[in-house]
Amino acid sequence: MGQRIVAIGKDRRIQTLSQHSAADVYMADDLIEAHEIIQTTRPDLIVFDHIFGPDCVAQFLTQTDSLGDIPVIIVNADPDLAESYRDAGASACLDDCTDLPGFEALARPLITSKPKHQTPHFFLNDLASNAGAVGQSPAMKHTLKMVEVVGSSQCNPVLLVGDTGTGKEVVAKAIHLQRHADKPFIAVNCAALTANLLESELFGHAKGSFTSADREKTGLLELAEDGTLFLDEISEMPLDMQAKLLRVIQEKTFRKVGGTKEIRCRATIVASTNRDLSHEVAANRFRRDLYYRLNVFPISLAPLTTEQRRQDIALLSEFFLETSTICPEKTGTIRGFTQMALDALQTHHWPGNVRELKNVIERAILLEPTDKIGLSSIVINAEQALPVFAQDREDKAKDFSLEKAERELIAKALQKTNWQKTKAAELLGISRATLYSKVKQHSIEHSQDESETPDPVLTN
Ligand SMILES: Nc1ncnc2c1ncn2[C@@H]1O[C@H](COP(=O)(O)OP(=O)(O)OP(=O)(O)O)[C@@H](O)[C@H]1O
Ligand SMILES: [Mg+2]
Repeated sequence: MGQRIVAIGKDRRIQTLSQHSAADVYMADDLIEAHEIIQTTRPDLIVFDHIFGPDCVAQFLTQTDSLGDIPVIIVNADPDLAESYRDAGASACLDDCTDLPGFEALARPLITSKPKHQTPHFFLNDLASNAGAVGQSPAMKHTLKMVEVVGSSQCNPVLLVGDTGTGKEVVAKAIHLQRHADKPFIAVNCAALTANLLESELFGHAKGSFTSADREKTGLLELAEDGTLFLDEISEMPLDMQAKLLRVIQEKTFRKVGGTKEIRCRATIVASTNRDLSHEVAANRFRRDLYYRLNVFPISLAPLTTEQRRQDIALLSEFFLETSTICPEKTGTIRGFTQMALDALQTHHWPGNVRELKNVIERAILLEPTDKIGLSSIVINAEQALPVFAQDREDKAKDFSLEKAERELIAKALQKTNWQKTKAAELLGISRATLYSKVKQHSIEHSQDESETPDPVLTN
């Protein structure tokens, strides 16, 4: 949804809580750090842990006043002090930081009533803008049309099919917004949990139903109320769980693990897969009956480089450049791409689709020293494109250092241009003199091997 929360406190449960209501959650350990993060990320909501004490809360609320109109929820709040905090400017207080539904109910209206930061030309319509689904291509138009059809119907379950990184979760949120924006959206990754854990996560369990079940647990199906339960990577769901899910879809009821009461399932189930489920059925890894139930209204997401979607690459790149918070000091300072950089982005085949593009743009923001992203800052598949040298393998921990990235880029340019330094300098967008000094600084040497395309050797 593109929404941001800054959570201030050291309790990781506050992070977990916040992650249910916003796509991006930034943690700050103290007030000084919080101040910086708030200024750079311009969040839609601030979550503040009462553990810092009443004086600190009061001080923070006065400061936030000067930061603009950002709503604040105080969690772990002493109920006796709630009224005074509200008088001091807090939007809401919650006394229990594990109360997910309670938090969602407070956070959602505060977040959704905020105006969006994004410029409209990125989005086809309001729904796309609210879901953070960038794109103007025919493929995106078609997808959004399908989202509207499904979102305005009672169709349940819904299946989303598409390669990794094509935006299935973004589309799941769009369906959710279209159908019941004010209800909970809960995502579960079926690949991340064992069969037993998945069952108790989804259905909940009764007290004493197994050794470690020392208290009753509400399942995510119940917590989703009449909102959306997003089952990511459904193909990875164990077969016996598939049978149980089928029952929920058919009967619209379920029981907690070890429980006897039938609980009504009111949530819309949206499942996603990047595998071909019919193949999984043929290989006996996915139940045929569940496949047919899920496949009533499949929505397919096109890979980024298909003819129907390719035109979105430039728009998405611009969007990620404008909205990224990876390098707060550079926010707003880089204003676009050189033509060569754009050409490189548009000709790559993007096997990781939008996610890979986003990563490449964020890396480019880190690398770019000027106000325009040039070809030299577009590092796609850095590892594969470069020869791997013995000491680089030991150097894995440093893979994200700027110095290393610069060194690799220069080596790559030299390799590409067959050590013609004028051409390499041109490719990198730097002068020949700068290239010479950088080659020296990074100890990049010409390979001794007299093969036709000598590789640069990086020595330390
Ligand atoms: N149309 C879009 N506009 C803006 N961002 C997008 C779009 N599609 C995808 N993204 C971004 O790309 C990343 C991957 O998207 P998402 O998680 O929805 O993909 P996915 O299809 O669920 O991938 P996977 O199968 O690997 O889980 C996310 O950071 C998401 O915000
Ligand atoms: Mg996903």
